[in-house]
Amino acid sequence: MPTGSPVSTDRIGDVVVLILQNPPVNTLAQPVREALYRELEAADLDGSVAAVVIAGGKQFSAGADLAEFDSGQALAHPTLHGELAGLLDSLRVPSVAAITGVALGGGLELALACSARVASPTATVGLPETTLGFMPGAGGTQRLPRAVGIERAVNLIASGRSIDATTAAEWGLVDEVADDPIAAAVRHAERLATAGERPRLRDLPVSDSAAAAFVDIALRDARRARRAPGVLFALEAVGASATLPFDEGMALEFTLFERLARTPEAKAARYRFLSDRAGGKPSTTVAMPASVAVVGAGTMGRGIAQAFLAAGIPTTLIDTDRGRVDAGAGAIRSSLDDSVARGRLAPDQRDARSALLSAAVGLDSAAGADLVIEAVFENLAVKLEVFRELDRVAGPDAVLASNTSSLDVDVIAGATSRPGSVVGMHFFSPAHIMKLVEVVDGAATTTRSLDTAIAVARKLGKTPVVSRVGPGFIGNRIFDQYLRQAVLLLQSGCTPLQVDEAMQAWGMAMGPFAVLDLVGNDVAWAARKERGETDAAWAPADALCELGWFGRKTGKGWYDYPAGSPNTDLALPDGPGLAADDIALRCILAMVNEAAAVLADGIAASTRDIDTVITKGYGFPGARGGPWFFAEQLGWGRVTAIMRRFAEETGDAFWQPSTALGAQS
Ligand code: NAI
Repeated sequence: MPTGSPVSTDRIGDVVVLILQNPPVNTLAQPVREALYRELEAADLDGSVAAVVIAGGKQFSAGADLAEFDSGQALAHPTLHGELAGLLDSLRVPSVAAITGVALGGGLELALACSARVASPTATVGLPETTLGFMPGAGGTQRLPRAVGIERAVNLIASGRSIDATTAAEWGLVDEVADDPIAAAVRHAERLATAGERPRLRDLPVSDSAAAAFVDIALRDARRARRAPGVLFALEAVGASATLPFDEGMALEFTLFERLARTPEAKAARYRFLSDRAGGKPSTTVAMPASVAVVGAGTMGRGIAQAFLAAGIPTTLIDTDRGRVDAGAGAIRSSLDDSVARGRLAPDQRDARSALLSAAVGLDSAAGADLVIEAVFENLAVKLEVFRELDRVAGPDAVLASNTSSLDVDVIAGATSRPGSVVGMHFFSPAHIMKLVEVVDGAATTTRSLDTAIAVARKLGKTPVVSRVGPGFIGNRIFDQYLRQAVLLLQSGCTPLQVDEAMQAWGMAMGPFAVLDLVGNDVAWAARKERGETDAAWAPADALCELGWFGRKTGKGWYDYPAGSPNTDLALPDGPGLAADDIALRCILAMVNEAAAVLADGIAASTRDIDTVITKGYGFPGARGGPWFFAEQLGWGRVTAIMRRFAEETGDAFWQPSTALGAQS
């Protein structure tokens, strides 16, 4: 075998062992499929071969590489669903899959096309396609029900979850669990060869007689629950396994697969998955902090500390007095209790997390921490004082992170004698739940500090996106323009309720005015005053704040609370209003135009990063991929034409399409 081939061969007695060699996870890229096809064919033609075993290294196979779908490579010959599975079906000799690590998606489908499967005790298998906007497309919907029955197949495919080897064996999905799966697979293959058996899942009927009815009900439930198109398409294909002959079921699966792949939702889901993976990655290997200090036991400090506890990292919560720090630690403990009560956390997990938490007064307690995260009041003087103090007490290698949402990280770093150790880690509220962290790369921030922040965010299960220093970083800067357009729409005669309803109908998690009331209108108002900003667009919001109507916290804002009904005391401009579509385009394209400026200013590294920030941090509908992805689908020519129309209609200078956008059209 020439070195570097994506499939290596070995021979044990009369059995040929084919080992996939496409690290790290053996994706079934075209060269792998081609080599596998060639080796299977060669083994089948060689009269001295009694059976074949297909194995991986550490990982059997994580399936197709999503990036290949948009490039068309995933469907290049030999295809997994067609030629490769077809060859396995028609081999003269039996084939056995030896599963180590993961067999996911196409990886499991490959194993299902073999005569039998042997798995190591630590292996996991599953068909996660529907969680990625996809559906199984290489026989998973036809062979899995024949292996495990319709009910389990429906559950596994619709949930996209993986099961361990023991469960897979109980279900009959794998034939044997063995510590040395290759050796066991070879023995299994020899037994089949000796007995002259060559079992194929395709020959089995779907075992459950009520199968079709079961799938119908599952499909109706999924439609009612508004499950993603991938789930609906996949279930339709599973249903076919109960009613159609195998080959017709396969053909239907592939038709549905191709139709699904072309839907905007599936495209957006692939884009989001790949963007998430492409987002912040450390460029070097950094040590995970052995202990962390969180300064400020308020809303954010509590959430951040909880995220660290969940990741198993000892955390000290620090505030200025005993009462505050105890209140913070108490709130974390009752949140953990609450999770136990809801059945989301096992009592021993709660105890383990709780044991990792300590609470202390004063910054001296941050002395031993490898990473300090500051989450005190959003006030520059207070933060400067905290960083001066941290500079004095923290160990020489400690990384010092600020959770500031709007202050200049470079100025904060300047309060220390070691600005290279300072980095921004902008968490979102509630910090133990929200998946986004903007990692702010200051002018002096060292690679080690930046990489530590990125690696830590990943360790917490978050998606880090790197931003350079600038007002509002990536997310708040872009989202501010969205909010500004929403307020500006009032001048056209739209009401807050109309705007909110239009944006929610478009897919945003909340309407912009509901967001402003939740955050507090006074926050941005104070910031505008501090900057001495006089932007007429914000006039209605300023007027609201002058009346003390800050939002939820004052019981009145754009809406009345707790009812949440429109604030009828508001004096709003008269006007004809706008159609819902135009309302949505104004607000969404405002983000696109600002995104272009954020890119041009070098604040964000890529449009993917921008889309990740806005979808993960600001309630942008995932099914639309992100503002940039949305605009790209709309077409840049149309986007800039609409922006020019908005410029004419509103006279708002903002609507000059950003030069970076011009480059796209
Ligand atoms: P908060 O007011 O709830 O908590 C701040 C805490 O810091 C208080 O417990 C206070 O006693 C403590 N503190 C003040 N000075 C201190 C000092 N010198 N030493 C130790 N503790 C001190 O504020 P919140 O909302 O948690 O915000 C904290 C930071 O997080 C701010 O920079 C804010 O901009 C940022 N942030 C807030 C978000 C939010 O949604 N609330 C979202 C993202 C960032």
